[in-house]
Amino acid sequence: MENREELKRQREYIEKLKHIVADIGTESGRAPKCAVVTFGCQMNARDSEKLCGILRQTGFDLECDESDADVIIYNTCTVRDNANQRVYGHLGSLRARIKAGEKIKIALCGCMMQEQSVIENISKNYRFVNLVFGTHNIYRFAELMYRMYTEDHQIIDIWESTDDYVEDLPVERKYGYKSGVNIMYGCNNFCTYCIVPYVRGRERSRDAREIIREIERLTADGVIEVMLLGQNVNSYGRGLDDGMDFSDLLKEVEKIDGIRRIRFMTSHPKDLSDKLIDTMAGSQKICRHIHLPLQSGSDRILKAMNRHYTKESYLDLVKRIKSAIPDIAVTTDIIVGFPGEKASDVDDTIDVINQLEYDNAFTFIYSKRTGTPAASMEDQVSEEFAKEQFGRVLDSVRANASKRNGLLVGRTEEALVESISDNDPAMVTGRLSNNSMVHFKGDPGLIGSIVPVRLHTAGGFYYIGDMVRE
Ligand code: 5AD
Ligand code: SF4
Repeated sequence: MENREELKRQREYIEKLKHIVADIGTESGRAPKCAVVTFGCQMNARDSEKLCGILRQTGFDLECDESDADVIIYNTCTVRDNANQRVYGHLGSLRARIKAGEKIKIALCGCMMQEQSVIENISKNYRFVNLVFGTHNIYRFAELMYRMYTEDHQIIDIWESTDDYVEDLPVERKYGYKSGVNIMYGCNNFCTYCIVPYVRGRERSRDAREIIREIERLTADGVIEVMLLGQNVNSYGRGLDDGMDFSDLLKEVEKIDGIRRIRFMTSHPKDLSDKLIDTMAGSQKICRHIHLPLQSGSDRILKAMNRHYTKESYLDLVKRIKSAIPDIAVTTDIIVGFPGEKASDVDDTIDVINQLEYDNAFTFIYSKRTGTPAASMEDQVSEEFAKEQFGRVLDSVRANASKRNGLLVGRTEEALVESISDNDPAMVTGRLSNNSMVHFKGDPGLIGSIVPVRLHTAGGFYYIGDMVRE
């Protein structure tokens, strides 16, 4: 639960850190510059906003990038090995800069740091890293930064788990009009390929009243769209004593006046209830998009992955969702090359893609994560086979997504304006409820508002439209 004592302690460290930052500013004639580099998912993006909130409040200058920063923080991901390799790549370049005489302080945090082998590697081979912390003690960031400046050795502070969280600290949101909100932490599902339960710990739901209070504060600050975040939002509420489930929470969020749009991430098919489908269908604010990871369409592989559903039950679930909520966009995650997978299993996956015509699918080649059950399964597949199958899946994903694109042409839909268009400064880019992008003529003053747009053309993955003036 929210730990008020700890909150007070961290606020004290924020004050102490402010003095240090101010002293550096006086000595060097400018505030220290800090770059936060984020890898991985929306959870990490949200965590980075928390880091930036504290950095900004303590006086760091965040208007810089890695090349001119005095302090660099990598918020890491370890879901697939290539994310780890990228971090080591960055550390390699930093080693060269430090050898060349640059004075940079380096901190590492996030999921990758919860792995024992990574910590051993950093403490042995990357002595120039100043601070390492993990996912469970991120709320102690101010204290850890204070220690980094006041202690003259490599600081490594990794916790196995925690029951506490401290949310009421400064946050620097990337967007003024939308925000992620953590509704739960960790994961209990132990899909056999996945390292998340080991690095993010057991599933814990936040108290609904605290979530609602946080969202109310966000609306007072201009937020109109929230993304409720959890590894498996469909099991929200387990272990809480107020009897709330995810649908109940959504209904409470819906009641908050300032909120115009609600999104959530990620749903596990095994826990998606009919009650949730009804709640979505009856809602004015829940967006017409669901991300529902399939991982595989083969019953044999799904069983080996410990996913607790079958091809048939997944197909049936999506059909029920689509019939209750017409126009809903369905997206998914797929893993290719899981141990023991054969071309016939991939045929089953492709069959699901063809039947459901996903709006988009993120396809990954299986990455062996040490410590997970799948890593010690015998029949690991060859890279060559995995790449070949990956190509087949990607082709079918693209073919189906292009069938879905353009379905809304001719309609007028509400768009939340997010930015000036990359390609044309006279245009703005907005997002529809189903998560599609739309570009239309408009001025930057529209950013952060919801406007009706008539969609007249479809491009690859986007629409072109005209704003409808009332
Ligand atoms: N290898 C490949 N992809 C993985 N994912 C999770 N673990 C692995 C792994 N070991 C994918 C899943 C998940 C997404 C976030 O990352 O598809 O839904
Ligand atoms: Fe990993 Fe499965 Fe948990 Fe998702 S539900 S985080 S894939 S263990």
